Amino acid sequence: MPNGMARGARAPRHEVMIMKPVLLSWITACLLGGAGTAIAAEPPKDDGARLYARHCAACHQAGGEGVPGRFPPHRGHVGELYAAEGDPEGRRYLARVLLHGLTGPIQVDGVRYDGNMPAWGGALSDAQIAAVLNYLLTGLDPAQVPPRGFHPYTAEEIAALGEAELSGRDVHALRRGLVGFGEATPGFAETAGGAPDEASVLPRQAAFPTPAYVALQNSGLVTSLPSGTAWPGVPGAHYNALSPDGTQLLVSGFKTGDVYVMDARSGELTATLSIGAVAQGVKIAPDGRHGLAVAPGQGIVAVIDLGAGELVKKVPVGEEPHNAVFTADGSRAYVTLQGGGAIAVIDMARLEKVDEIPTPGLDTPHNLDLSEDGQRLWIRDFLGRVGVLDLKRRALVETFAVGNGHGGIDVVPGGRYVATGAIADSTVTVIDAQRMEVVAEVEVGSGPHGVRASRDGRYLYVSITADDTLAVIDTETLEVVQQVPAGGAFPFWIAVPGNP
Ligand code: HEC
Repeated sequence: MPNGMARGARAPRHEVMIMKPVLLSWITACLLGGAGTAIAAEPPKDDGARLYARHCAACHQAGGEGVPGRFPPHRGHVGELYAAEGDPEGRRYLARVLLHGLTGPIQVDGVRYDGNMPAWGGALSDAQIAAVLNYLLTGLDPAQVPPRGFHPYTAEEIAALGEAELSGRDVHALRRGLVGFGEATPGFAETAGGAPDEASVLPRQAAFPTPAYVALQNSGLVTSLPSGTAWPGVPGAHYNALSPDGTQLLVSGFKTGDVYVMDARSGELTATLSIGAVAQGVKIAPDGRHGLAVAPGQGIVAVIDLGAGELVKKVPVGEEPHNAVFTADGSRAYVTLQGGGAIAVIDMARLEKVDEIPTPGLDTPHNLDLSEDGQRLWIRDFLGRVGVLDLKRRALVETFAVGNGHGGIDVVPGGRYVATGAIADSTVTVIDAQRMEVVAEVEVGSGPHGVRASRDGRYLYVSITADDTLAVIDTETLEVVQQVPAGGAFPFWIAVPGNP
């Protein structure tokens, strides 16, 4: 396609300018470590239509018609975006939206949206992103003629674009360079932050009675707050967990598929283990001996001997596991099956899956926590709901509508509240676990995901992925009392002593 090639050959000025230095170390790490990226051959079920139905339709709707004011339409819109000229041109812009997400105000057909679409890079493989884009442009709307000059995206093209470490706000800035759309994409300065700027009504030290360890995915760091100490060497730092004695951290490398064992006092890396193409949730058993790490593409939970720093076993659990939680005695672990609409149960003595409890009505169980009496699992899904699973009755006894997109969930120590984030939104939902009702939607900033309370339940820490901050909510007032820079890009998860 001469047209496309000529444009592609032009220096992508904006994109070069905003590439971050971390990119180099990232590439080096991938090359040296031979770490598996997600380019591997895809099973046939991953065609564009199925991927769209599974990952996009919940927000953009099955036919791509969108929800005015909340989720922009694709039908009648993406073809125009694709054909837009500018720097970058539409073709590359669309790929970047999928790879890195989009954060900031936009206008489509005269309707304003000011949302936050999470990045799909890593969650979907390069081949899957290419397939879903091709479907968007040629299959979603049967009446649609493919845009002029269309040629299918390839996994290689997506992989090359994916080497830049951009944020959703960076992509929003790129949208302003699209001819025909830029004017309708206001500068992000006018809405940047979204969170209270002067919320520091509490001395920093008081908000952190014990350290909080934050995993910074796009910086490959773990930072410790309130001191701000940063430890490198953990590419893709995604989920993290702290041992009960506070001496060891287990960290998952999202895009590397590696799991890192770290000394929680010195930051020294004591082991790096490969568990799959992508690594998600990690947890440490109450006795501190074993760690669990989830590899969704492989359908397994890896059991790690933390003392020896060795992989003990990969336990098959079911379709697309995401995160795990231990019972208080450590005899069992519950695992969300985001692709299987169920919770898998692992017997920790036998290191085998012994049960599977379906969660009908909650199709995409994502994160979870256990009530203090061990009777109920609080489950956060991928889209904007929380379900309460009664383990004796093996039934969902309640569901709540919460913020859009996926997020963490925490049964706040003391048991009164359960709190959950919402990465495609700006709120933390607080549920009163006795009254079984939502008591607050706390505005925290763009893209809140990780949620963990301090050991005494007084402060709730929230990682704000698109603002690169950590919000602190006082659970007595349910108000934000601190907004702390997280020390790097894309803070995803938080580990705190006493609240695994
Ligand atoms: C959790 C809800 C959610 C899901 C799931 C989701 N999106 Fe989005 N998407 C949004 C929101 C919100 C925006 C607008 C963001 C903004 O206002 O900055 C958006 C924007 C976009 C845009 C940019 C439109 C423009 O005019 O620039 C594209 C393209 C897109 N999404 C494609 C997809 C595809 C493909 C998938 C599935 C892989 C998907 N989205 C899944 C919420 C979602």
